[in-house]
Amino acid sequence: MVPLKQVALFISCAALGVQAAASSDQLSWDKAYVKAKSVVDQMSIEQMVNLTTGAGWGSQCVGNTRPVDDDLFPVLCLQDGPIGVRLANNVTAGLSGITVAQTFDKAAFRDRGVYMGKEFRGKGINVQLGPCIDPMRSPWAGRLWEAFGEDPYLAGVATSETVQGIQSQDVAATIKHYIGNNQETNRTTSSVVIDDRTLHEVWLYPYARGIEAGSAMVMCSYNMLNGTYACENEYTLTTILRDELGFQGATVADWGATHSTIDSANAGLDLSMPVRIYEGEDDFAKNLTQAVKDGKVKKERLAEMATRVAATYYKLKQDASDFPDGAINSTDPDSAPVVPVQDDHAKIVRDSGAAAVVLLRNEDNVLPLGDSIQKIAIVGSDGGPNPGDINNCTDGACDQGTLAMGYGSGVVTFPYLISPKEGIESAAGDNVEITYTYDDYDLDKAADISKDADVALVFANAIAGEGVDRANLSLWHNGDDLIKAVADANENTVVVIHATGPVLMPWLDHPNIKAILWPGLPGQESGNSLADVLFGKVNPSGRLTYTIAKNEEDYSAHISKEAEFEYDEKLLVGYKWFEAKDIKPLFEFGFGLSYTTFDYSDVKASVDDKEQPKVKATLQVQNTGDVDGAEIPQAYISFPESAGEPPKLLRGFDKVDVKAGKKENVSFEFGKTELSIWDVSQREWIVPSGEYTIHVGASSSDIRTSATFTL
Ligand SMILES: *[C@@H]1O[C@H](CO)[C@@H](O)[C@H](O)[C@H]1NC(C)=O
Ligand SMILES: *[C@@H]1O[C@H](CO)[C@@H](O)[C@H](O)[C@H]1NC(C)=O
Ligand SMILES: *[C@@H]1O[C@H](CO)[C@@H](O)[C@H](O)[C@H]1NC(C)=O
Ligand SMILES: *[C@@H]1O[C@H](CO)[C@@H](O)[C@H](O)[C@H]1NC(C)=O
Ligand SMILES: *[C@@H]1O[C@H](CO)[C@@H](O)[C@H](O)[C@H]1NC(C)=O
Ligand SMILES: *[C@@H]1O[C@H](CO)[C@@H](O)[C@H](O)[C@H]1NC(C)=O
Ligand SMILES: *[C@@H]1O[C@H](CO)[C@@H](O)[C@H](O)[C@H]1NC(C)=O
Ligand SMILES: *[C@@H]1O[C@H](CO)[C@@H](O)[C@H](O)[C@H]1NC(C)=O
Ligand SMILES: *[C@@H]1O[C@H](CO)[C@@H](O)[C@H](O)[C@H]1NC(C)=O
Repeated sequence: MVPLKQVALFISCAALGVQAAASSDQLSWDKAYVKAKSVVDQMSIEQMVNLTTGAGWGSQCVGNTRPVDDDLFPVLCLQDGPIGVRLANNVTAGLSGITVAQTFDKAAFRDRGVYMGKEFRGKGINVQLGPCIDPMRSPWAGRLWEAFGEDPYLAGVATSETVQGIQSQDVAATIKHYIGNNQETNRTTSSVVIDDRTLHEVWLYPYARGIEAGSAMVMCSYNMLNGTYACENEYTLTTILRDELGFQGATVADWGATHSTIDSANAGLDLSMPVRIYEGEDDFAKNLTQAVKDGKVKKERLAEMATRVAATYYKLKQDASDFPDGAINSTDPDSAPVVPVQDDHAKIVRDSGAAAVVLLRNEDNVLPLGDSIQKIAIVGSDGGPNPGDINNCTDGACDQGTLAMGYGSGVVTFPYLISPKEGIESAAGDNVEITYTYDDYDLDKAADISKDADVALVFANAIAGEGVDRANLSLWHNGDDLIKAVADANENTVVVIHATGPVLMPWLDHPNIKAILWPGLPGQESGNSLADVLFGKVNPSGRLTYTIAKNEEDYSAHISKEAEFEYDEKLLVGYKWFEAKDIKPLFEFGFGLSYTTFDYSDVKASVDDKEQPKVKATLQVQNTGDVDGAEIPQAYISFPESAGEPPKLLRGFDKVDVKAGKKENVSFEFGKTELSIWDVSQREWIVPSGEYTIHVGASSSDIRTSATFTL
């Protein structure tokens, strides 16, 4: 079904084959509602029902709204997913959420959102089913790699920039999965209990930022909260989303997450989505039509549902004549018309992939690899290509060759995938000899290849995806033994790990492991991004977006198999738990090294306004080494004792380029978003009075300077 274009008030000047530019004049919600209402007013009950009842798999996109009347309103196309266009030809397969978050760079978040928006737009897609923004509760969670890590503030900034980037191209963003869907085990049958303060301060926080950024859609999740499904939960869908956060867009169910008609519609669901086009398709539509006729769902509520869906389309000016035609076939992607949308996005992917690499260790300055290196050994299947087709496994659900993406509905078909070996080969040039083995189990061969190399790079990985949680936090494919075998053989061993989340590191103390690199899931340019860092073209500045613990038991939340379970760690998610319980991790949240070093001057905090409030903090960061680099100063706030907050919370960060030997000014501003807590009895965000401390440092543990202020 091809969306009909409204007759435009101006003549499209987009030349054939040239990607249409986004219109800069999007509407306010108020104006979008006026347009949407005038169209919905002309609709019959059946037509309104169709606009609020999707067709799932088997339609053109992974979901479409059902037909109304082409002269009145088009069929909308909703397509996965959070990291790019799924099930499409000629698209970019870039960084996963968890990996772009490692850049701690607002510009990188925004650029990624913009290029994704361009690709969805280019394919004529109205709604991108992403970003995925839920903070990581447990490192075992299968989908942890789709979102932005364990800290709600970092996730909030990444959400805001991503949503603005996507929507700058007139494509609707969908923040998901709302809310409490933090594990795959029993995701459609279990119920979570989250106390109201924790719900607001941790799990809702990134949603609040996404709604402020204008996200047109919010997707409700599979799970129940207090025994009520998320897509029929009036408290979360209406009280919180609309009344508290002022959300004006549409709520859309995850595929198959609608469990009722009357309850869902009355609770605040606007667009129901079945899994498949013919699977119970008529249920919601028929029942809703009947319920409206019976007065069990008010006709005004149905009109509101339809208006909210339609308003997203008008707000984003998708009725403009230059919004492209649909060029997607989710059933058979290769049969869709070839509309290349990749442009120069590979460069964005390569650059942000390099900026995301976290340098966890660098002893004896073994990195970057310099001119003296003549022989490099590459060991491990993760260093090489997929032995078969790069897109061999359905939705990426296998771990063959280098790992550059997780699996499930959040994947994108690779147009190509530069393996580490290919990236290293092209960066090293002809004078460097490269020996390699991709056999993870032949430890003698691994040692043999490694022993007389100037540096041995050993690769290992750990995959995860939708549908199942991780069975353990160990490396896959014999990774631990392979790393030990290489380290035993070569005293300049560099470990490279592509992982969806934290892994255990039983080999960490091996004296020959001189460097450890953590590139995450970098997408199609993986090998090039890595080589840029290995050879010093890019000075690493990536930071961990989660805590890497010594032991599995150290984490605050494990996967629950109970029918109902409580988030009993409450506010102590991620590093906050480790700090409150005084548990030392292997590598803390926010950690990452550089090829240079930085000094921090004393931070000065000033309260510019007590009422609003507005607090400013300034300091200088000096590059004390002899190469240029980028530092990520992180601002953590300790609240007054009486507030009952965790020891400290990330409330600001910046990426600052500093030339060798030079200083740069850094400033942070904190307002109500950074300084308030949720007051359960007053049901509002309040700024506690008392003494606050701001800590600025290079990670959550490496605090370099602190200052106090009083509100
Ligand atoms: C998608 O491709 C399938 C298989 O080639 C075809 O049967 C179907 O009609 C196509 N759908 C659309 C919407 O073009
Ligand atoms: C609603 O959508 C169904 C297809 O799913 C279609 O058969 C029906 O004609 C549509 N109703 C109206 C009123 O357009
Ligand atoms: C589109 O993708 C196909 C398959 O990957 C490729 O062969 C073709 O060259 C691409 N076309 C364009 C115009 O990029
Ligand atoms: C669930 O129940 C808890 C405990 O009674 C309450 O604090 C919380 O607000 C409820 N959450 C929802 C989503 O209803
Ligand atoms: C629709 O109504 C039928 C008959 O009452 C019921 O069996 C079915 O579960 C309902 N489906 C939904 C999605 O409400
Ligand atoms: C896909 O992977 C399997 C192993 O999981 C392998 O046997 C098969 O040859 C591969 N096929 C292609 C086309 O790459
Ligand atoms: C971890 O889980 C994987 C996948 O289920 C399994 O193959 C592996 O043996 C497990 N490793 C350990 C150390 O338990
Ligand atoms: C939850 O999952 C476990 C393990 O898969 C299973 O044994 C249990 O029955 C499930 N519980 C519910 C409520 O679905
Ligand atoms: C940087 O901060 C210092 C000290 O506050 C100030 O004197 C200087 O003017 C600032 N430099 C710039 C470029 O803003």
